[in-house]
Amino acid sequence: MVAQRIDGKAFAAGLRAKIASQVAALKDEHGITPGLAVVLVGDDPASQVYVASKGRQTVEAGMNSYEHRLPADAGQAELLALIGRLNADPAVHGILVQLPLPAHIDENEIINAIAVKKDVDGFSVANAGRLATGQRGAMVPCTPLGCLMLLRDHLGDLSGKNAVVIGRSNIVGKPMGALLLGDSATVTVAHSRTKDLPEVVRGADIVVAAVGRPEMIKGDWIKPGATVIDVGINRTEKGLVGDVDYASAAEVAGAITPVPGGVGPMTIACLLANTLTACCRSNGLPDPEGLTP
Ligand code: GUN
Repeated sequence: MVAQRIDGKAFAAGLRAKIASQVAALKDEHGITPGLAVVLVGDDPASQVYVASKGRQTVEAGMNSYEHRLPADAGQAELLALIGRLNADPAVHGILVQLPLPAHIDENEIINAIAVKKDVDGFSVANAGRLATGQRGAMVPCTPLGCLMLLRDHLGDLSGKNAVVIGRSNIVGKPMGALLLGDSATVTVAHSRTKDLPEVVRGADIVVAAVGRPEMIKGDWIKPGATVIDVGINRTEKGLVGDVDYASAAEVAGAITPVPGGVGPMTIACLLANTLTACCRSNGLPDPEGLTP
């Protein structure tokens, strides 16, 4: 079997177009323009690239982008004060603090200082708790939301499917597990201490790989016909590779996302989706069509 390639790049382009048209309608009908504030502390090169890309795509979708750059030695109080101002600013509907933050900053305190309704990353305790308990109104972390959209688009109903998520981070693994449970999949969240990981993965109809180890998941771990979503973005000597060994996995899987061009473009598209959702909610409007789980 040669797996179908799940084209996240094309899906994300379609999603951005849909968002742009909903943003245009929001302006026409209500005179409201969604605004996203992105905060970058320090000069980590990868973070600078991500933040620039977020700003550009926000503007391309017709939204306002507010970029705040603080020096690497900015203090906790300075960052909290900035978040306080953004929380109070009615033109800002979404706030994203780019991670990782410098080691002297208490990351959890910063994340939880963001107003819950503006927390477009969905990393705060309040939003993570809403997602974990299945409450409506959670802001859902962008990368797992993008993975869910690709899975639903490819498979339709996920109910009863065996899903194995590899990785237990707060950014991807844990919220991915909660989203798959919400769609009535049978979910295993595996991680570095999981015993006999290849055997666990062999039972999966759906594999979501988010471990951050280049090409760790091999083709002979994959159940024939399974759907494989590769969240990994690893820079290696041979270029960007995922957490899945694409060549061997594509011989066995039913469908697989490439790296690059799979999950990556979905993350920023979902950030735009969350910003539009946050804007609608803060103006008492219904959630936009098709952008929330
Ligand atoms: N760093 C890596 N991924 C992310 C993300 O999704 N959001 C934020 N804020 N920082 C990140």
